[in-house]
Amino acid sequence: MTEHNGKDFEPEITVFTCIYCAYMAVDTAGALKIEYPPNIKLIKLPCTGKTDARYLLEAFEQGADGVCVVGCPIGNCHHVDGNKRGRARVAHTKQLLDDVGLGADRLEMYFVSGGMGETFANAVREMNERVRALGPSPLKGR
Ligand code: FES
Repeated sequence: MTEHNGKDFEPEITVFTCIYCAYMAVDTAGALKIEYPPNIKLIKLPCTGKTDARYLLEAFEQGADGVCVVGCPIGNCHHVDGNKRGRARVAHTKQLLDDVGLGADRLEMYFVSGGMGETFANAVREMNERVRALGPSPLKGR
């Protein structure tokens, strides 16, 4: 197990958002000057229904310590049930992360509507703190 000091570890978080509600929430947070950890890498997807275990695992391979997927609220996906498909793929990928020893907690899905800038910021803060407590990804430095 890797020794780490949570205080001096800044996790790298990759955030996949759909281009509708979730990315609007990012814009809302920006417009309202709501602060959230700056150490995130945003990747836009047409819909979280495009989420694929491969993309999520690649994010870890490319150095992410944690990954989250942010989509429209259930019932409000612009592609009808895309966010439900995304949710199922995130659940499946969490299982894979447990199987390979990275741990399911390094991946999470959130649902926000476009005006929910604070909720988006809270999701990123929560993920940041959770991953900080977990420590760097075991894939780091390989
Ligand atoms: Fe936002 Fe489908 S368009 S999750």
